[in-house]
Amino acid sequence: MAHHIALFASGTGSNARNIIKYFQGSETVRVALVVSNKKDAGVLPMAQAYGVPTHIVSRHSFYESTEILEVLQQHQVDFIALAGFLWLIPAYLVRAFPRRIVNIHPALLPRYGGKGMYGMHVHEAVQAAGETETGMTIHYVNEQYDEGDILFQARCPVAPGDSAADIARNVLALEHRHFPEVLARLLDTAVAPNAD
Ligand code: GAR
Repeated sequence: MAHHIALFASGTGSNARNIIKYFQGSETVRVALVVSNKKDAGVLPMAQAYGVPTHIVSRHSFYESTEILEVLQQHQVDFIALAGFLWLIPAYLVRAFPRRIVNIHPALLPRYGGKGMYGMHVHEAVQAAGETETGMTIHYVNEQYDEGDILFQARCPVAPGDSAADIARNVLALEHRHFPEVLARLLDTAVAPNAD
């Protein structure tokens, strides 16, 4: 019995890469699929280089059909991690994976979350507000952007002279340090795997 997890990502996929590497050789967790909404996303060739199957979703198929459920089923996916995925998860998908979808967000939710708050927009807002600390949040996904129950947060200081790019770099380092371990713990304790 092993968990088959899918990673959803829209961009470079440095978190996805980090998670794939972390679970390489694991007997209990397999990264079974990478899903992207962008056909030219860097995450796709990266996943292929690690031998992980990939799938591209169109806006139409994601929001006007339930095709993605069949794709996830084909790959026996029982858990989904959003690693820089920028589309809202539709209700049918949340219902099909109750408390089995988590997201990583590059700030200390509930602050600096919601529609439009992603990537550098978050760090620019944190810098403009003169925050002295920021961080990252891992939370369950529901039908609203960035609003599900919080599972884990980690913090880092923001120094007075830090640019948004400095903040981004520090937060990404926190994400890389914690996301795979939080997933491993969650899958170990809270979620029963599919029969393999
Ligand atoms: C990460 O910082 C992640 O927290 C953020 O996108 C980045 C993806 O980087 N997610 C959001 O902003 C979601 N609202 P990556 O492609 O290098 O993993």
